[in-house]
Amino acid sequence: MQIHIFTLFPQMCVGPFGESIIARAVARGLLTIHLHQFRDYTHDRHHTVDDAQYGGGPGMVLKPEPLFEAVESVVGAPPSCPVVLLTPQGKVFSQAHAKRLSAQPAIALICGHYGGVDERIREHLATEELSIGDYVLSGGELAAMVVVDAVARLVPGVLGDEESAGEDSHATGILQHPLYTRPAQFRDWPVPDVLLSGDHQAVAKWRRRQALLRTLARRPDLLENAALTDEERRWLEEGKARFCSP
Ligand code: ADE
Repeated sequence: MQIHIFTLFPQMCVGPFGESIIARAVARGLLTIHLHQFRDYTHDRHHTVDDAQYGGGPGMVLKPEPLFEAVESVVGAPPSCPVVLLTPQGKVFSQAHAKRLSAQPAIALICGHYGGVDERIREHLATEELSIGDYVLSGGELAAMVVVDAVARLVPGVLGDEESAGEDSHATGILQHPLYTRPAQFRDWPVPDVLLSGDHQAVAKWRRRQALLRTLARRPDLLENAALTDEERRWLEEGKARFCSP
């Protein structure tokens, strides 16, 4: 998969992409990450990328010309891949977006900065807008790195079998079950007996029940769309009675 990032601060991305799973995927040829400095696509003496907003008001706005020229020269016009603008005004990024983007041969990410971007970039250059949460960052770079990390780990082959993403929180639509490793007894806190029992069916059932109860306690909104068996619904009713008892 090719990932193109359009940014005024390409150096911000170098460290994070040089480590761990992303770096390994790049080394194995599963991903290529291209950092594009869109200031290089300006033609004036001062390499101007922003300007005051029409109508007055504080803050500088990213001009359309350098970004259009940069993105179109790399991915074409119309674009040959999704062009994602990172902005706090976008749809809130989720595992479903990550899954969809991970199936693409290429994606382009535009990092906004300063006060915002000219509306024509949203309307005529970006094919979608994503936010990584309801807070405002100084720019889109950290958001782009979050999106790249979540997308890249779903690209086939990027994770080894041992790291499989199948049971991750959100991959299944609910939160992940609790995890334990050695030692079986740490201070006063033993590992639940069932995990040491060797009974795979009992382990699977315990995990599913814990995952559902944890989701009920922390993110009940996720259960609205979950496909549940009668037994699982019973677990949740019991859980609700427990959480709500005085
Ligand atoms: N740029 C600034 N804040 C952002 C956010 N929350 N998500 C994506 N891009 C942003």
